[in-house]
Order: sequence, then C-alpha cells, then structure tokens
Amino acid sequence: MKILYVASEVAPFSKTGGLGDVAGALPAELAALGHEVKVVSPRYGSIKTDRLTPTGHHLELRFPFGVERGPILSLRPSPNLELLFLENEHYYNRGGIYGDRWGEFGDNHRRYAYLSIGALQAAQRLGFTPDIVHLNDWQTGLTAVALRRAFQATALGRARSVLTIHNLAYQGQFGKEIMGDLGLPWELFTAEQGLEFYDTVNFLKGAIQFSDALTTVSPTYAREIQQPEGGANLDGLLRRRQGVLSGILNGIDVHEWNPETDTYLPERYGADDLSGKAACRRELLRRFGLDPDTRAPVFGIVSRLAWQKGVDLLLEVMPQALQADIRFVAVGSGEGRYEDGLRTLQHHFPGQVGTFIGFDQGLSHLVEAGADFFIMPSRYEPCGLNQMYSLRYGTVPIVRATGGLVDTVDGSMEGDGILFEAFHPAALLAALRRAQALYAEPERLRAFRRRGMGRDFSWAASARRYERLFSSLLTQ
Ligand code: ADP
Ligand code: GLC
Repeated sequence: MKILYVASEVAPFSKTGGLGDVAGALPAELAALGHEVKVVSPRYGSIKTDRLTPTGHHLELRFPFGVERGPILSLRPSPNLELLFLENEHYYNRGGIYGDRWGEFGDNHRRYAYLSIGALQAAQRLGFTPDIVHLNDWQTGLTAVALRRAFQATALGRARSVLTIHNLAYQGQFGKEIMGDLGLPWELFTAEQGLEFYDTVNFLKGAIQFSDALTTVSPTYAREIQQPEGGANLDGLLRRRQGVLSGILNGIDVHEWNPETDTYLPERYGADDLSGKAACRRELLRRFGLDPDTRAPVFGIVSRLAWQKGVDLLLEVMPQALQADIRFVAVGSGEGRYEDGLRTLQHHFPGQVGTFIGFDQGLSHLVEAGADFFIMPSRYEPCGLNQMYSLRYGTVPIVRATGGLVDTVDGSMEGDGILFEAFHPAALLAALRRAQALYAEPERLRAFRRRGMGRDFSWAASARRYERLFSSLLTQ
C-alpha cells in the first residue's frame, strides 16, 4: 500500500508529547512491513536542515489573503520511508510548535491549513498517489475535508482517509471568521455534515465527519469518548460514527526506550540484573540535589503540566504523602499554576523533592530508569506512553484507571503496576501507600518489576492492526 501520513510533530525532529513519539515510530513500522510511506510535517525552526535534502518541489497554496509558498525538504531513513518537511518561513520558523510563552499562536488555523492542504499538494508534486491518507488530531483535520472537496476529482480523490484521535480535548476551534479567511465554502459551516460547532469552526469535528475511518489510541478511550463525560461535546457525533471507530493501542519505540542500550543512562541494565538501575537511581537523586544513598523509595513524574494529567491532585496529596520517608522528582512544563505548585512543593520539602521545569529528553529517560515508582494520576488518558516506558525500565507505574492506562497496566496482585479508580486525594494517597508497602517487600517488588520488563509493547502488533484496517477500507 501507499500511505501518506500527516502529523504536526514527528520525533526526534519535533515533539511536545506522545503524538510526536507515535508519528516517529508507526510510519517506520509500516514501512518495515513493506508499505511505501511518506510522512508530511512542518519544518519547524528548531529542525536543522543539514540532514534534509531539497526535493526541488515547492508548494503553492492560494488563500483569500494571498498565495503561500515554500519548499519541500526530504529525508529517507529507509528505502520505503520518506519524511517530507514543509518549509514556510513565517509559519514555522518560530520558537515554539503550537505557541510560545505568550500562549497559542494566533494564526494556527493558517499554519495548519498550510500543513493539511499542503500535504495533499506535496503528494501531487512528488507524483505519489496514496491509497491511504492517515491523519492525526485537529492539526490535520482539513486534509480530510480537502480530500473530499478540493481534491475529489484528482487522482488523490480515490484515497481512503483514516483519522487517529490522540486527544479529543484539543479540537482546533476557531471563530467563524476563519471560514472567510481560509476561503472555506460556507456550505461547510453546518453542524450536521460540516465543521460548525456551537457557532465556531472545529477542525477535529470536520475530520471526524469527513474521514472514512476513525481510530483512537486505546480500546478503553474509544469507548470513553462515546460517553458524555469523556466526549468533549463530540460524543453524539462519535456515537453516530461508531461503526467506523476503533481503538488501536499505541506501541513504544523499543529501540529508543531500552534500558539495555539507553545512552542517556550512567549504567545500563536488563531484567536479570538490576544493579545498573541502582546506579541510575543514585544519579537521578544526585541530579536533583537529593542524598544519593537514601534507602527511601523514589517516586517520579515526567509530564506535560496540563489539566488532563491530574497534577493538581498530586500537588494536593503530596504534602501528606511526604510525611513518610519518600522522595519525589518531577520533570515537566506547561501551565504556570502547576509549575509554580511544583516549585512551592520543593521549597517546603527541600531534602525530599526535586523538580526540573522544562523539557529535557535525557532527564526523562533518567527518571524512567532511576525512579522506583512512576505516577500518572490522569483525569483522562487516551493512551499514555510513559507508563509503558516505566514498565520496560522496571519502574512500577502508579496510574489512575482511565483510558489507555487501564489497557496497559496490570493492577492485580500478581500484576506489574498499581491502579486506582477515583480521581480523589484519598484514592491517590492509598495508591502511594500501597507502593510503599510493596517497596518494603523486596521479593514482591522484584517480581512486579520483572513482569513489567517482560511485557511486549513493541509497535509490531499495533502496526499490523492498522494494516488490517487499511486493507479493509481498500476492499470496501
Ligand atoms: P501526552 O502525549 O499526553 O503528553 P504521553 O504519555 O503519550 O502523554 O507522551 C508524553 C511524551 O512526552 C513522553 O515521551 C514523555 O517522556 C515526553 N515528555 C513529556 N514531558 C516531558 C518533559 N518535560 N521533558 C521531556 N519529555 C517529556
Ligand atoms: C496524546 C494523549 C496521550 C497519547 C498520545 C499519543 O497526547 O494525551 O495519552 O499517548 O497522544 O497517542
């Protein structure tokens, strides 16, 4: 099959969260299965051009406000896989992917219209006629619409489109004046079959309406988003489309996230010998200015600091939890109130808490390896990758029973992690106490770790599921 994969971030080139990880790994896995895959993403200013080659092709997109042009750059990691980076000086060459410290960029509708429509034009320019156009989140929503409208009569019009929803809460909602700004036909501004959503324009809604198939990143989340509580006001539409909606669990990049080869770690280790993990723990404590020789259990988080992640719940519980002899390290960035909350916690518990506010790839690996427990108290979690990284690194995850966390962590007595149900301080506190009890029993702890490390979260199985979905669309 020929697959055009469109995503607003692709690790290791650009990443704000799990979407980047997925876009960096799944296309390569599909290419390894023998499919011809082209990934289209912006060439953000932070992406160096020295490894990229010009294709010699340019985009030229006409909007009412003017013509937008830019070159298409290419990288070929393997014979079947090509990454195409769309360059546009004033849209992408800025500090930040979706926004900067002053907030979201005000022209994101234009920036992602350029990506969405540009991806289809890039395929045309390169003479690539995809069977499948695979879209991700609201940033690529207009691709689905354009495929059925502007490109319907072209060779691309035959392609089937698949939208993967990584997070239903981010929908790309804009004032309706952007219909005119982008030159979108007003007949698309309807609630029933178009992009209209409570008198605004909603890119994700458009993609849900116009895509041939919908997936989300875990089976549990696929059910949750069809309920009013988890549906972010799109549950009715998703129920209407449930015949084409399925949940396919994400995998992880087992090459990047492998404690036996991880170059970010001071020592490497495997399930048979965890002494390297002890060295990582010491290094982690040292990096955070905590006593490296403490015998207290170390709890860690690495997170976007957003409402979704339940950082407020954690901040509420921590002062009480820290009455016990435990350590807590946090790596994260995002909303100011959570960043401040973490700093304040560290200020009150200087010998027990370490924080790093910012985005640091190496440190995220060190937390996964060096912590004893990894906490994810999410309000909702479409899939979540960190808990899988934790399992692989022998770090016991403590997760709330929601979305993909339910599908990946085994919270039973003979399991590999700790699950708690209610989004409530008492429930999280009880889970932290269960963790301390487990820590006090080295044999049982070792068994938990070993089972976690033995789980297979590689992309192979998930990639096969996407492949089957694509084939079924082509034979319909
Ligand atoms: P989400 O995509 O909702 O943020 P995931 O668990 O799917 O959640 O993926 C998060 C990814 O982003 C992981 O690879 C995690 O290590 C990474 N990450 C999040 N915050 C940071 C940070 N401050 N520094 C480094 N990596 C981070
Ligand atoms: C989103 C979700 C996260 C998921 C990731 C990759 O960012 O919040 O749960 O793991 O996408 O699909």
